[in-house]
Amino acid sequence: MAALGAARRVIHFSWSSSVASLCAGSKCRWQSTAAAAAISRPATPDTQESRKPKTGILMLNMGGPEKLDDVHDFLLRLFLDTDLMQLPVQNKLGPFIAKRRTPKIQEQYSRIGGGSPIKQWTTMQGEGMVKLLDEMCPETAPHKFYIGFRYVRPLTEEAIEQMENDGVERAVAFTQYPQYSCSTTGSSLNAIYRYYSSREDRPKMRWSVIDRWPTHPLLIECFAQHVLNELEKFPVEKRDDVVILFSAHSLPMSVVNRGDPYPQEVGATVQRVMERLQYCNPYRLVWQSKVGPMAWLGPQTDEVIKGLSQRGKKNLLLVPIAFTSDHIETLHELDIEYSQVLGEECGVENIRRAESLNGNPLFFKALADLVQSHLKSDQPCSRQLTLRCPLCVNPTCGRTKDFFVNQKL
Ligand code: FES
Repeated sequence: MAALGAARRVIHFSWSSSVASLCAGSKCRWQSTAAAAAISRPATPDTQESRKPKTGILMLNMGGPEKLDDVHDFLLRLFLDTDLMQLPVQNKLGPFIAKRRTPKIQEQYSRIGGGSPIKQWTTMQGEGMVKLLDEMCPETAPHKFYIGFRYVRPLTEEAIEQMENDGVERAVAFTQYPQYSCSTTGSSLNAIYRYYSSREDRPKMRWSVIDRWPTHPLLIECFAQHVLNELEKFPVEKRDDVVILFSAHSLPMSVVNRGDPYPQEVGATVQRVMERLQYCNPYRLVWQSKVGPMAWLGPQTDEVIKGLSQRGKKNLLLVPIAFTSDHIETLHELDIEYSQVLGEECGVENIRRAESLNGNPLFFKALADLVQSHLKSDQPCSRQLTLRCPLCVNPTCGRTKDFFVNQKL
């Protein structure tokens, strides 16, 4: 029972545990979204052109269980990730928690259509990106994208192996989180470092990394367009009254206070979007998905919805600002828990959610532009990546930075 108690405490620290713990309530609207996505299902990476790729772009993300049978392994990898959380006797406690939570989480995923849509969206985005890149940058073509998820297949390690087998010359690790956190992008980069450091072979590819892009102009334009599209759906007489709530996944304060750059970078995205919108409406940056009693970065999205409605602000637009594709925090937490259930409880008049960037062709262009500029710059990473968090205690972070900056193992 001590282990169970520890497990409960641990869950409170996890960035991603809330991913796994959502959707416990009513039937999720993602079922219809999933059906729509299935109709326009993009090609899988296997269908990419068979020419030998010169440049490989590894799209890094957390990933989500694609089907119910994947849930256990997703949880297992998540609870064993020492870059994400540190547990006492993690190699025993991690599997214990994963096994114990699997049935409940499977039930939750079954309510949102049976799995996460992230692989489908990433595949569509990757296809759109490399098609543009082949036209924009013939000198680095052929380009091929690879998906490297942290907790489900295709795993980062599998993708690297595939890239090496394909004979890629130039490898770009491209985080799909626009804003950098050591819990997300940092964990994926550490996985790349560990892949090579656990082998005798040195990389045959030359690696570099796009580690953050919170204010890329086309990213900002996409977000701005999606905000404007949704604002137009409010009744004309209410439009000026709408409060825009940019909502990002929160972080435990223990992570924030060691100097994680994520809160500042999310703020930068919000500021640029509002500049582009000429500050058309009042707005706030709010934080969702807190779990457990520990202190997390706030204000919390649900508390803000309550507080604003109590103060007579009853027209609200939620904008997911830190993920680019739909996931259960948008489809369940924002759409159902907050927009439907909480909105009704609070007596809001209109509450809507801006669409995720998903299949927006301008977003494919943003991804291609990022890669093109990165390759032209010939820089291994951003200057920001070279600096460890001031209170970092994870030695792998330092080695990973050395790997990318100096190609040194
Ligand atoms: S935790 Fe941020 S660099 Fe190690």
